[in-house]
Amino acid sequence: MKIVVTGACGFIGVNMSARLLKDGHEVLGLDNFYTSDRKKANTLFAYPSFSFLQKDITEPWDDIESTLEGADAICNLACPASPVWYMKDPIYTTKVSVQGILHALDYATKKKIPILHASTSEVYGDPLEHPQKENLLWKRKSDWTALLL
Ligand SMILES: NC(=O)c1ccc[n+]([C@@H]2O[C@H](COP(=O)([O-])OP(=O)(O)OC[C@H]3O[C@@H](n4cnc5c(N)ncnc54)[C@H](O)[C@@H]3O)[C@@H](O)[C@H]2O)c1
Repeated sequence: MKIVVTGACGFIGVNMSARLLKDGHEVLGLDNFYTSDRKKANTLFAYPSFSFLQKDITEPWDDIESTLEGADAICNLACPASPVWYMKDPIYTTKVSVQGILHALDYATKKKIPILHASTSEVYGDPLEHPQKENLLWKRKSDWTALLL
């Protein structure tokens, strides 16, 4: 399968892409290096079945449609994920979490391919107990962190 991984140079992106490549899949990574850099994804560039586009997912996807052609699935992991980064520029974080996912969803809908979108327990704020239960009502750090959903 050809799998598009957004946020491919981040912590989960690198590990998920490496696993997919090891399993014999083709991976197209998209990342704008907002919180990472190319060095973090060095292991991926060693695979001939890995290709990469420096791309901000909030920007229109029309210019990359030919490269995306043939994709069988999208894993949307691109996001300023850690508190230091997502609180640095809330408006941009919101844009990535709304406009970015809309671009990914539009493409997946048009091509009728599945999409996986990563969320985070950060949307609930600091947990009051461990392990965290799904039905706990935590206090959110702020309303806009819910957009990280
Ligand atoms: N790391 C965890 O333990 C964990 C746990 C649960 C959920 N998640 C979720 O998984 C996703 C990935 O987490 P992570 O830990 O790999 O984060 P990360 O910060 O390590 O990686 C995120 C990647 O996204 C890229 N990025 C940010 N904005 C972008 C944009 N507009 N366009 C393209 N690329 C962009 C960054 O440059 C970075 O490489 C996030 O949604 C996070 O909330 C992470």
